[in-house]
Amino acid sequence: PRVRFVQQDGSEKSLEVGREVSVMLAAVRNGVPGIDGECGGCLDCATCHVYVDEEQTSSLPQPSEEELELLSAVSGERRPNSRLSCQLKVLAPLDELVVHVPARQS
Ligand code: FES
Repeated sequence: PRVRFVQQDGSEKSLEVGREVSVMLAAVRNGVPGIDGECGGCLDCATCHVYVDEEQTSSLPQPSEEELELLSAVSGERRPNSRLSCQLKVLAPLDELVVHVPARQS
């Protein structure tokens, strides 16, 4: 499976990602700009905020209570398709997940 990261200026980066790897880790390991993941994925920082492509939101598991709570602390604009990318994986049957990187994380 792949993750496609779309930046505010329209530039994109597509990465091959294992299904067990979070979208945040894939981004940090591959130097995708705009995803910081400061807490390493333990739901403590909200600097891994992304907007999931609107057509794909229903293909993903719903956010946990903890994720929803932390989503209220993101520094970019929060939208209905806001998610924390450390909680996202490209689960079957999805083959490609498209996420939009917000203008800022802090
Ligand atoms: Fe810190 Fe996602 S990496 S909340």
